[in-house]
Parts: sequence; C-alpha cells; structure tokens
Amino acid sequence: MAIQPESDYSFESHLAEVLSRYVDTPNPRLKEIMEALTQHLLTFAHEVKLTRDEWLAGLDFLTKTGQKSDELRLEMMLLSDLLGLSALIDIIESADDLGDATDATLLGPFYVEDAPERSPGESIVVAEDNSERLRVRGRVTSTSGEPIEDATIEVWQNGQDGLYPIQDLDRFPIEHLRGTYRSGQDGEYEMLCVRPVDYPVPMDGPPGDMLRAVDREGMRAAHLHFLVKAQGHRPLVTEVFDTQSSRLNTDVVFGVRPSLIRTPELGADGLLETTFDVVLAPS
Ligand SMILES: [Fe+2]
Repeated sequence: MAIQPESDYSFESHLAEVLSRYVDTPNPRLKEIMEALTQHLLTFAHEVKLTRDEWLAGLDFLTKTGQKSDELRLEMMLLSDLLGLSALIDIIESADDLGDATDATLLGPFYVEDAPERSPGESIVVAEDNSERLRVRGRVTSTSGEPIEDATIEVWQNGQDGLYPIQDLDRFPIEHLRGTYRSGQDGEYEMLCVRPVDYPVPMDGPPGDMLRAVDREGMRAAHLHFLVKAQGHRPLVTEVFDTQSSRLNTDVVFGVRPSLIRTPELGADGLLETTFDVVLAPS
C-alpha cells in the first residue's frame, strides 16, 4: 500500500493498513485471532479516544502486573480472572459437546503443580488451622456413566485466615492444604479438607489497584479447588462452593456455577461432610 497523503489518514484507513499486514499468516487460526485482536484493540482505542497519558498508564499497568508475577504468584492470571476473561474461556469451552460433564470453572492464581499424594480420607491439613474440618466424598465417572478408576483429584484451598499457604511460606509448609487423591475401583474418593471461607484476592499488586480504582470489592466466594485428570478424558478444572458464603452472587472473578454449590451437613461421626461427584467427558 502506498503512503497516503496526510489529509487521507483516517481510523478506517489506518485499521485497514494494520490488518493488511496479517494477510500472509500461514496458520489460519493465528490469522483469525490476530485480525480480530487488531480490529477490537484499535477500535477500542478509537472509540474511547485514548489519550497518550492513558495509553502510557495502561502499558505501565501491564508491565508492572507482569513484573509482580513469578512461579508462585500468577498476577497475569489474576488480572484475567478479574476482567471476566477466565470465566468466559470456561463458558466457551463448555459450549463444546461435553454431555453431562461437571461444570468447569476457574483455575485461579494459586495452583501449584505436584500436590503431595494423599491416601483415601487423609487430611490435607498439615499445619495448625482451627477451621472446621470438612470431609468431601464423591465418585468420578465418565459421561457414559462408567466409574473411572485411578483418576487423580488434586485439591487446594485457603485456610481460616483467607490465605493460601503459598501466599505466606514463612508460616506454612507448601504441602499444607493441598493434596492429590486417587479414585478407587468404583470411582470413589474421599478427602479431608477444612470448611472454606470467603477470601480477598491479592490486593497489593496492580490488579488490586485496579479494583480499588473502580470501587469493586475483591472477595471470592468460599470454595475448594479441584483439578481432576483421568486417562482418555478431558481434564477438569473446577471448584466446589459452600452454600454458607455470602458472596455466591458477587464472586469477584465470576466463577460461581449453581451446579457446583454444596451444603455441608453433619455426618454420623459428627464431622461436617458433603458429596461432590465428578463427571468427566472423553477426550
Ligand atoms: Fe481460590
């Protein structure tokens, strides 16, 4: 495209020129994504008449969000969660034909790989925590109804003070409130956790600044995190919500699904318990 006289510059001609640079992208999916991203990003800046100072502030915000991130602090993930983008990805993914598979929801910023293996019924509480204990039992099955043996069920959660152990490794061992269980022959599993409490997302980084600037409360509804994997099935990232949370309708990361809310009740042995069956779709 020839350089246009200055008087001919317009948003439309600029957008067309930028889009034209992707015409030879060999990967058609990447071409689709780059063209749509360009279209929406430039249209957004044009629509709000983004000033130079605002643009620089935005770049600074993203830079600092990246700089705040490390192996144990997924600040970019948190930003995606707060913007509603992570929840949207779950909605898009679950629009696939997954049958009666358990609803997926956010991974969140506190997942750490290789949670310690736990035997059936073993507690994930390895440091002091006075929270009420919560037994979770369930069955892992395929959407065909068949029980799945040897599925791994990773669980991680926050403690009574609202913190995930990785947020304060001076006080907590990294294996605290995390575990990997395996389903038995009939697909059944049993774990011992603590009753989750509502907790604030980290507010000491740029995403926290963003929440304060727009006067949004940074609280998550009480939940346990699950990552369930089994051979021949799609991995499931989900959460189990506690009905006693006061934030089921205002979860700051838009993660609550009605099908994932449970009401713990006292078991025969006086321990609080609930059931969470997991249905996996074939891969
Ligand atoms: Fe969480």
